[in-house]
Amino acid sequence: MAPWAGSEASALNPLRALWLALAAAFLLTLLLQLVPSSLLPGCALFQDLIRYGKTKLGAPRRPAACRAFDVPKRYFSHFYVISVLWNGFLLWFLTQSLFLGVPFPHWLHHLLRILGAAQFRGGELALSAFLVLAFLWLHSLRRLFECFYVSVFSNAVIHLVQYCFGLVYYVLVGLTVLSQVPMDGRNVYVIGKNLLMQARWFHILGMMMFFWSSAHQYKCHVILSNLRKNKAGVVIHCNHRIPFGDWFEYVSSPNYLAELMIYISMAVTFGFLNLTWWLVVTYVFFSQALSAFLSHKFYKSKFVSYPKHRKAFLPFLF
Ligand SMILES: NC(=O)c1ccc[n+]([C@@H]2O[C@H](COP(=O)([O-])OP(=O)(O)OC[C@H]3O[C@@H](n4cnc5c(N)ncnc54)[C@H](OP(=O)(O)O)[C@@H]3O)[C@@H](O)[C@H]2O)c1
Repeated sequence: MAPWAGSEASALNPLRALWLALAAAFLLTLLLQLVPSSLLPGCALFQDLIRYGKTKLGAPRRPAACRAFDVPKRYFSHFYVISVLWNGFLLWFLTQSLFLGVPFPHWLHHLLRILGAAQFRGGELALSAFLVLAFLWLHSLRRLFECFYVSVFSNAVIHLVQYCFGLVYYVLVGLTVLSQVPMDGRNVYVIGKNLLMQARWFHILGMMMFFWSSAHQYKCHVILSNLRKNKAGVVIHCNHRIPFGDWFEYVSSPNYLAELMIYISMAVTFGFLNLTWWLVVTYVFFSQALSAFLSHKFYKSKFVSYPKHRKAFLPFLF
C-alpha cells in the first residue's frame, strides 16, 4: 500500500484531473440547488441535463427542442452491457498477466500511460486492483441482471448527453482501476511474486462492505419494482409510489447511498490511501447526492403524506 506522498503519487495526471473536474461540476450543480429557485438558471437545457427519470417530471415544462434528445431510461441496460464486456476484457488481461506472466497488449499499455498510469510503484499491491476490477465487473453484471429481470421501467427518459456519458463512464472507471496496477514495462509487478502473499485485512473488510452494500442496493431495487406489481408479481402500472422498507426508512434514495458505499468499499480494498480512487468516490458522492436531492424534492412535492423524518441521501444528515 503506497501512501500518496511520493511526487508521482500526488501528481495531477489526466485521469485525476477528469474525476476532479467531474466532482467539482456536480458539487457546483448541487450547491446551485440550495439557492432559491428564483435565482437559479432557468435555462431548460441546464435543467434537462441535471435531471433524469422521474425528476424530469418535477422540472418546468420541457420545450420540444429538449424532448427531441430524449432517450428511454430503460437504455440504462446498455451501460452495463458495455461495462460487463469492457471490464471483463480488462479483467482478462490483468488475470493473464498476473497468473501467466502475459504482458499487457501494446495499445492498452499505451492508453494507460496516456491517461497517467505510473510505471512501477514500489508499495502498491496488484491484488488490490485485481479485487476492485473484479468487484466492478460483478457490480455491472448484477446491475445488468436487475435491468433485465428486476426493475420495472416506466416511459421515463434521459437526455442524449446523459446517455453518451453513461456509455463512456464504465470504460473510464475500468481504466482508472487498471491504471492503479503497479507495472514494470508491460508486465504487472507483483511484490514477492506471489499474489496471495499480498492479502491484507483491508481486502477482507472491503469485500465484506462490497457484498453488504450490493445486497442492500439489490433489495432497494426489488422494493421499487414491487411498487408496480400486484401480489402475484404481475406489473399493473408504471406510476411512482412511496417506497417503504430496508434503507428507504431512512432516506429517499437508498439505492444511490448503496452505490456510494460500493465505491467506498473499493477505496477500502485499495487500502484507504489511493488518491485517484478517492476522486472517483468524490464524483460518485456528488452525482448521487444531486440525483437523491432532486428525487427527494419530487417525492415531497408529489405526496403530502411523504414521511417527514426521511432524508434525501445520508441518514439523519442530508
Ligand atoms: N455510478 C453512477 O454514476 C450512477 C449514475 C446513475 C445511476 N447509478 C445507479 O444506477 C441505479 C439505478 O439508478 P436510477 O437513477 O435509475 O434509480 P431510480 O430512479 O431509483 O430507478 C430505479 C428503478 O425503479 C423505478 N422507480 C424509481 N422510483 C420509483 C417509484 N417511486 N415508484 C416505482 N418505481 C420507481 C425506476 O423506474 P423509472 O425511472 O423508469 O420510472 C427504475 O426502474 C442506482 O442504484 C444508481 O445508484 C449510478
